[in-house]
Amino acid sequence: MTFIVKTSNLWKSYGDKKALVGVSLHIPEGEIYGLLGPNGAGKTSIIGIISGILRFDKGNFSIAGKKHVSQIKNLVGLVPQDAQLYYDMTCLNHLIFFAKLQGFNKLAAKQESLRVLKLVDLFSEQNNKVGSLSHGMRRRLGFAQALIGSPKVLILDEPTNGLDPSIAKSIRLLILELKKSNTTIIFSSHNIYEVEEICDSIGILNKGKLIKEGLIKNLKKTNSVFVSVRGLKKEVIKRIKKKHYVKRLNEGLNSLEVEFKHGDFTNDLLKFLIDNSLVIDKFKKGESLEDIFLDIVGKK
Ligand SMILES: Nc1ncnc2c1ncn2[C@@H]1O[C@H](COP(=O)(O)OP(=O)(O)O)[C@@H](O)[C@H]1O
Ligand SMILES: [Mg+2]
Repeated sequence: MTFIVKTSNLWKSYGDKKALVGVSLHIPEGEIYGLLGPNGAGKTSIIGIISGILRFDKGNFSIAGKKHVSQIKNLVGLVPQDAQLYYDMTCLNHLIFFAKLQGFNKLAAKQESLRVLKLVDLFSEQNNKVGSLSHGMRRRLGFAQALIGSPKVLILDEPTNGLDPSIAKSIRLLILELKKSNTTIIFSSHNIYEVEEICDSIGILNKGKLIKEGLIKNLKKTNSVFVSVRGLKKEVIKRIKKKHYVKRLNEGLNSLEVEFKHGDFTNDLLKFLIDNSLVIDKFKKGESLEDIFLDIVGKK
């Protein structure tokens, strides 16, 4: 796996307020990476730093092996949390303006603007004023602006925040579409469900610290089971604890959670419970991303 974005031990404070405390991220090339964390976790600070627009105190980072801001700027396309758009311009002119700022000449700026309008499905809106667009379309226009010059890394800071569920969904579908062009996409969100829906890897941040990072499918623990079961007796619990495959056992009122040392012994465990005449109401294998997230964020 190639990591296109790497940060190493990044520290950032605003006055006395520590926003990042030693964050080391590894973002795989060509994937969608979810930067997940509650408000104030430090997502926007990281995004500002790796986009080359925010100073930091300590540590370093690279994008496609490049470390200098002048080299990084062309590799990154950023859609900020509060993207500013020129409401009085037409969509096309708005984009042409930004393409020229990036150094495109007049003709190339128009061609590039039309290309990115197509990418975000706003081609037919090109002569309409930005101010006349719906919320969802404005978000798309923000994406188009960031896609000028085909950046290797597209960074989206909470792109679905404040949108109606159906529009948020269409933005997520657009993100999945953009991935097909092999663009690496960094997607920040405080919503575990949408991150799970579209991301390949995630980094979970809390209070300026990276708590967990990796492929979603690897983070979800598979070697545990949660069983709702009535009539558990101390004696039965004791015997389960002695089984060779049990690493840890948590007892609830009418439930138990067993983590296995290795492999999956769910069938053995359920059979043992049934053989002991216990009634199983339900069972759930593994730990969901939601469990992991709540476990981290819940620890205040
Ligand atoms: N300009 C600023 N001045 C002071 N504190 C800030 C500033 N920007 C962010 N912070 C603080 O830094 C922490 C991280 O903020 P931020 O990176 O915006 O997190 P997130 O994007 O995850 O909500 C928060 O506690 C926030 O209040
Ligand atoms: Mg933010």
